[in-house]
Order: sequence, then structure tokens, then C-alpha cells
Amino acid sequence: MTEKELRALLADMSLEEKLGEMTQLSPNFFGTEESVDLTGPMQQMNLKPEDVPLLGSTLNAFGAEKIIEMQKHHMELQPHHIPMLFMADVIHGLKTIYPIPLAMGSSFNTDLMEEAAAMAAREAAATGVQLTFSPMADLVRDPRWGRVMESPGEDPLLIARMTEATVKGYQGEDVSAPDRIASCFKHFGGYGAAEGGRDYNTVDVSDGMLREFYLDGYKAAVDAGAAMGMTSFNTIDRIPATGSQKLYRKILRDEWGFDGVAITDFDAVNEMIPHGLAADGKEAAKYALKAGVDIEMMSTHILNYGKELVRSGEIDEKLIDEAVWRILKLKNKLGLFENPFKGADPEKEKELHQCAAHMALAREISARCVVLLKNEGKILPLKKGAKVGLAGPFANSLSVLGGWSIIAASGSTTLLQGLTEHGAEVKMAMTEELKPMQMGFFDVSDQTAELETLADCDVVIAAVGEHPDDTGESASRTILRLSHNQEKMLERLHDMGKKVVAVIFSGRPLEIRPVLPFCDAVVQAWFLGSEAGPAIGDVLFGDVNPSARLSMSFPQTVGQVPVYYNHMNTGRPVVGKPHRYVSCYLDCPNEPLFPFGYGLSYSEYHYQNLKVEKTEGGLPLKVSVEVENTSDVAGRETVQLYIHDVAASVVRPVKELKDFTQIDLAPGEKKTVTFAVTTEMLSFWNNEAFVFEHGDFEIMVGHSSDEVLTEKVTL
Ligand code: GLC
Repeated sequence: MTEKELRALLADMSLEEKLGEMTQLSPNFFGTEESVDLTGPMQQMNLKPEDVPLLGSTLNAFGAEKIIEMQKHHMELQPHHIPMLFMADVIHGLKTIYPIPLAMGSSFNTDLMEEAAAMAAREAAATGVQLTFSPMADLVRDPRWGRVMESPGEDPLLIARMTEATVKGYQGEDVSAPDRIASCFKHFGGYGAAEGGRDYNTVDVSDGMLREFYLDGYKAAVDAGAAMGMTSFNTIDRIPATGSQKLYRKILRDEWGFDGVAITDFDAVNEMIPHGLAADGKEAAKYALKAGVDIEMMSTHILNYGKELVRSGEIDEKLIDEAVWRILKLKNKLGLFENPFKGADPEKEKELHQCAAHMALAREISARCVVLLKNEGKILPLKKGAKVGLAGPFANSLSVLGGWSIIAASGSTTLLQGLTEHGAEVKMAMTEELKPMQMGFFDVSDQTAELETLADCDVVIAAVGEHPDDTGESASRTILRLSHNQEKMLERLHDMGKKVVAVIFSGRPLEIRPVLPFCDAVVQAWFLGSEAGPAIGDVLFGDVNPSARLSMSFPQTVGQVPVYYNHMNTGRPVVGKPHRYVSCYLDCPNEPLFPFGYGLSYSEYHYQNLKVEKTEGGLPLKVSVEVENTSDVAGRETVQLYIHDVAASVVRPVKELKDFTQIDLAPGEKKTVTFAVTTEMLSFWNNEAFVFEHGDFEIMVGHSSDEVLTEKVTL
């Protein structure tokens, strides 16, 4: 449709129609027979039957035939035959599930991220989905918060790079193409800073910290052309994000120039009442409209009170028109006026879902997300044909897809399958699976006596962790240790004198310090999706040499949280051994158990000859370093560049990731890696604007945030 035609359509719409366009309800409100997976609390909707044909979009309807049918029916009844928008939570794949976003962050590989998102788009588009509520770009520092699994991690740059790659993967060059879907970044903003790691809890960060750490990912999504942004449940400056003009008018629209659609999170307009901002639904609608909300998800206050607000003059109808204009533009950009079914295609759906090519890609990606945390005595990689003991709740579990695998359900693989595929002779014991804490299940039973049967195994793989349903939304935890009998199992295996390889399945950093002494090797396997089993097998048997690095710090203990690498120095930093009157704990080191950027390999990499050279006028700096593979195993090294601004008009983090790259090194091979350090990389928010200030800087390059070579430079 041309812009002129679109303008004419908007002008011809009634106010009721416009308010309907701004309302999104789940498929069950459209009279579909089967119930749907709700992703939030169902409230009493004040919805009249005549409202239903006016609704502009729905969420989490799946199936090409069903969606084609829904669209046809809807357009027949809609007064201007405006097509509905079908949105869904395609978070890490639709049917072929790839690793959870926190694991994808650990890959430090934006190419794989983009490929994964493009695969998800192909499968989602074929099933009729036109837009996904992804990527989540919330910076996370608190593993008590279950939704850390949905984020690329604790670093602003890593989040920005992975977010950009995800948006590009979903949308491609032309989002109206039948194999592409539109992207909705979320949750804007600062949702990951919930106090106590308790979901939906208060967020209270200064404007400086918000801009310095939390906004980079959302900005990257906007710059990458994301079609939509979603409000977060939390407050910012004591105002719920869904009613925050600072976030949605000032920052998102005025400063960043975002002209896409702003949708609320599930029931978030209504929740401004319990938040204590709005006295009632009408006031909630007014706050949302003034903040610039375009679509209200799963509550109906704009629909119910919009007309009254316009008639009374409390809301200018221009705001409604602006919102509906953005929605119509999005539908037009997706080509829905020409083809309201977009990519929905029952044949394609069957052909693509978990097809061999997608499963192979998922397996490759998954192996690149596995982080090797410990490998004492190099017991990994395992020898082909090894006699392997296998114990623990994830030994033969299909619960390895991770949260938000909404419709995948089937088609995942177990660790046992992965091991046997590599020719291992496997004997199992104590493999009772976990069930969700939400069902009142907190531990597997003590079957440690069974472990004696593994006495004759060369090595025992202990598949431990947390249930995937105890991660993700509304899954905050205060205790991050493995359950008691899982810890007891590891200790028993150690006492039996067995070589133990712990494989940890989790959606967050767990508190594994208590069991570390019982394990010769530790592998962080997150929730890797459909091909989890084979991918872990590929790493354990050395077909893939691990290259992943932690996207989020692992705490020594939950009492240390939040612990993250890019912290400020304080006026009393610990220098050398902790002592009185410095910033430390009496009972725990300040450092995490494993820091951001950490990860081992089967190779050994040696860094040398770091050089930092000024170019004409000083910047950009030319940074180079030699990286040598001193082992006899080919590997992929993730080289990280950090900076430290030693003194500035606001205090700066002790370290900030400013670039990273991956290089493949044959045994004995040495490569020179170069980076450019630009003025923008050295700029920061000084509480009024992004500025660069002259002074001393430390430039660091290395294998992990805590393992770097450093050169000082004055600019
Ligand atoms: C949920 C989540 C959000 C999701 C939305 C739709 O409450 O907060 O991430 O996209 O509702 O399911």
C-alpha cells in the first residue's frame, strides 16, 4: 500500500477501530477452540463481542493452517479488512531449538547468532508467525533472577553485538520476505536490575548507570532496525516503564529516533494500578498513551477508556492517530496488505521444522556455547570407546531445551544419546530426573548406594543442574546450589576415587564452589536445545575444542551477588591481600568463582608482544598482540579487548570490554590480532552527555577478563 493510501485508511477509521488496532489479545479471545499457553496472569477483560473484529494483533498462535484461517475470518469482519498481526515468543528457535540466549552470549560468535536467528525466522514464518518478541536485551548481573537465561549476559558490548546479530538474523534485508519475521526488542528498560533478583521487583538505578550499562542492548536493536520495542514490568525513577515518558518519548523516540511500534508487556498497562501509579484503568490508559504506548498486550484499558479520554479532552486524538499510524506502517512494511498470510505455508512448515540442515546447524551452534570451566589432569577430551559411568538427573533427560521452547516440546536429545553416538560404553546409576520446584519438587532421592555399580568405569560423567522450568520468567531463586542429593552424589563419586566430569545443565550461573573439589572437570552446558546431547558429546570427545567464554560471572556464593567484572574500583579497593578498612568481605573473596570472559580450551594459548600505537592526532589507537597456540590441538581462541579509563569526571569501571574476535589456530600456529580503539569506545556518559576526556588509559588484551596483557597510554 502506498503511504497516501495508508493515510487515507487511517483517516477513514473510526475511533473504536483505532482503539481496537491498539489492543492485542491471545487467540482464545478469537473464538479458537483449543486453549493456548498463556505467558502471564489472565485478567478479567471488559471485552464486548463487537470489539473482537477490531483487535489489531494476537500473540502465540501457531500453525500455518490455523493462522490462515484466523486471518481470513478476521479480515472478513474487520470494517476495513485490515489484516491482524501474528506475534509470538520465538526466543531461541521455534521447532529446532538452539541454546538459550545466555549460552549464545557465551559463544562470543555473532555470525552463529545471526545464522541461528535466521533459522528461527524460517521456521516461524512458515508456521505463520510474523513478528517475534525477541531479542531480550536486558543486561543481567543477578543469577537469582530466572530471566538471566534470556539475556546475552552482563556486558553492554556483548549484549549489543548479539542483539544486533539477532535482529539482522530475524529481519534480513527485507522483513516482508516470506522467510523473515519482524523483531521486537525487550524489555525496555532495565528489567534485569530487579532488586534481590526477584522477578517484577523494583528497579532503582541512577540515570548514569542506566545509560552506562543497561541501555546499550536496546539501542543496538534500534540501530539494527528492530520493528518493535516492548515495555518492561519494572519502574524506572519510580515510574512503571509502561508509563515512562522518559524512556519512551525522551530516550527512545527523541534521542534515538525510533519510529517503530511500542508494545507493552503482558498486562503491563493494567499493572500500573498495583504499582500505585494509576488509580484505575482509565488513568492507566492515560499514562500509557502519554508515554507513547502503541499496543496494549493482554489488558483492555485503552480499548475501554480511549474514547472517554478523547471526548473529555484528557487525551488528544492525535496521540491515538500517531500510535495507529505506526501500527499500520508496520503491517505495511511486512506486506500484509498485499499478502496477509505472509510466510504461512503448511508444506514449508513440514519441510523446515527440525529438518536435517537445521538440526545440524543447531548442533554446531550448541557445541560452540559449551564452556569448559575445569579440566584437571586433562581428563577431557575422553578417549573414543571409553568405559563411561553416567549419573545424575540429566543423564538421560529430554528436559534440555530450556525455557521459552513454547512449541518445540518434542525432538530434543539426551546426553546418553550423545555419548553412545560417540561409541562410549555407558553404564548408568542414580538417574532420577528433577521435576520443577513450581510443583513442590526440590531434590532427587538419595540413590548414592547405586553408584557402587560404576566403580569399574574409567570416568564418571555427572549430569547435574536445575530444572528448566525453574529458570526463565517468574523463576527467581535465593539458593543457587545444586540440590543436596546431587551434591552428595558428586562427593560420593569423588570418595570412590572416580575421575568425575560434571556437566551442568542450568539457565543461570549456579553456586558450584561446594562441589568443585569433587570434580576433575566441569563443563557448563546451559540448556542447549534440540541437539544438546550430541553437541555435548562432540565437546567431551574432542570433536569440538571448546571456544566459549562465560557471558556472566559465576559467584563464589549467592551472598556475593551481584558480582560482575565491569565494577567500579571504590575508594578502598583491595590491593594484594585483603585487610581491614578496604572494600572486602570477611568470609569470601571479592572475585567471582569464574569471571566474565573465562573459559578453558583443549589447546593452550600464549599472548605476547602487546603493542599500543597512536595514530595521527592520537586516536584511533592501533592495538596488536601475538597469540600462539602452544599445544598440539587445533583450537579457536576468543581474543578480548578491554580498556580502563584511569581518571575521569565520573568514576569508570575497572575494565570494559570494547571488542572481541575469534581466531582459529593450528597447533604451534601464531597470529597477530589487531584492534582499533576509537574515540567512541573511550567515551562515556558524564551524567549529561556522552563525552571523551583526555587522560591516562589502560589497554588490555587477553583470554578472559581476568587474564590480560596491559599497556598504559596517555591521550
Ligand atoms: C511475558 C514476558 C515477555 C513475553 C510476553 C508475551 O510476560 O515478560 O517477555 O514476550 O509476556 O508472551
